[in-house]
Amino acid sequence: MSRVSFPKDFVFGFSESGFQFEMGLPGSEDPNGDWWAWVHDTDNIRAGLVSGDFPEDGPGYWHLYRMDHDIAERLGMDAARLGMEWSRIFSKPTFDVKVDYSLEKRYITHINIKEEHLKKLDEIANKEAVEHYREIFQDWKARGKKLIVCLYHWPLPLWMHDPIKARRSALREGPLGWLDKRCVIEFAKYVAYVAWKYNDLVDAWATMNEPNVVYSQGYINVKSGFPPGFLDLGAAMKTMMNMIEAHARAYDAIKISSKKPVGIIYAVSCIEPLKSEDEDVARRARRESTYAFLDAITRGVIEQGNIIRDDLRGRLDWLGVNYYTRLVVTSDARLGWRAVPGYGFLCQPDSLSLTGRPTSDFGWEVYPEGLHKVLSDLYARYKLPLMVTENGIADKSDRLRPRFIVSHIHQTYLALKEGVDVRGYLHWALVDNYEWASGFNMKFGLCQVDLKTKKRYLRPSALIFREIATRKSIPEELQYLTEPPC
Ligand code: BGC
Repeated sequence: MSRVSFPKDFVFGFSESGFQFEMGLPGSEDPNGDWWAWVHDTDNIRAGLVSGDFPEDGPGYWHLYRMDHDIAERLGMDAARLGMEWSRIFSKPTFDVKVDYSLEKRYITHINIKEEHLKKLDEIANKEAVEHYREIFQDWKARGKKLIVCLYHWPLPLWMHDPIKARRSALREGPLGWLDKRCVIEFAKYVAYVAWKYNDLVDAWATMNEPNVVYSQGYINVKSGFPPGFLDLGAAMKTMMNMIEAHARAYDAIKISSKKPVGIIYAVSCIEPLKSEDEDVARRARRESTYAFLDAITRGVIEQGNIIRDDLRGRLDWLGVNYYTRLVVTSDARLGWRAVPGYGFLCQPDSLSLTGRPTSDFGWEVYPEGLHKVLSDLYARYKLPLMVTENGIADKSDRLRPRFIVSHIHQTYLALKEGVDVRGYLHWALVDNYEWASGFNMKFGLCQVDLKTKKRYLRPSALIFREIATRKSIPEELQYLTEPPC
């Protein structure tokens, strides 16, 4: 086999969010976010909508970050994408820091955030949290590593979104989160403040993680256990539009005090037709689930209504790709397209997909070649630097993870070799995490975490990751694992 080597500046690392990792030890709780309220809601637990596991029993990164950074360093990692929680920085509303903004038709096209506003925000920010994030970031940077900070990975402050009230009132009473235009403005203030505070430590910014998951799970796939769990296609669309605008305004807000590249992290599945007649359907699915959002923040194109918005155009310096598996689609009379069970995300746990591929504890089909395809497609369309910002598998027994890691890194390599500008591969996750509505059952970590003692135990696949990361190549002895499983 030929050498499978990555350029020296290609980074290997890990990705994590705030809510899923930070809590675990006394003093780390953050009860001021909507997800906290959501997973503690007794109706949600009784209905089985959420697991009944609580994030405050989690891996405890807030206090144990040094230990996790040590492990990451020993595994040869050079980069981390870390999350920040808006509700920690601003546990109280920021509405009173008044900023001017331009409203054209019903669009917020510009928000005028000045130093005086940042100073006022500084007065109401939670100083302890601000200082604590600085310590975490400094610890990672002091090791000579790259730091990507993601500013929103799903929880909104409760003062901006009360998901229980929103659902009970059929979205008539709020605060309504992204459905409320004020969220665009308050998000921009928070982001401007964070960029002003941490620019010295951060190598790249991501405004949001997977906005597409937020509006589709929150308002369409309401059984997924995501807030506010209220079926309303119009609300999903409105949330999407507000998040597009929020990204663009956040991009501008970061640029006030930072020259670092600003990206977004998007959930991208490889969308394939069930049969050859479904090719058009697959194209439509790709457009609706991926390109619609990304076209808006790169080209300013809003498909619905054929609108071009200059205030959205060119608001992306890099793109984070979260890839887990594929979607096989066919036509659907009501929605135009639907994903077919038995493939991709819609398989039985720990079994085989309809094409005989192994599936994870979550029931997600292992489909590494999809990563190559999405990287190539996205690069051809946007010509922006890409980074694999999440890729991993729920696999408690670590039976599938070794091949999963090697084959996905190999597919990344194939894309790179074809000229795709992909700058790194960040694994999800370094340690087991709190998996939203599913709680602690899904084990994504290279390290297992004993939730009682908070001890970390390396899973064997971590050593495979280390081999690749430290050499920046897939050594010959591991190349037998590059083949997709079948
Ligand atoms: C999310 C993570 C999540 C992972 C595995 C991604 O969609 O960004 O928060 O843990 O998938 O489900």
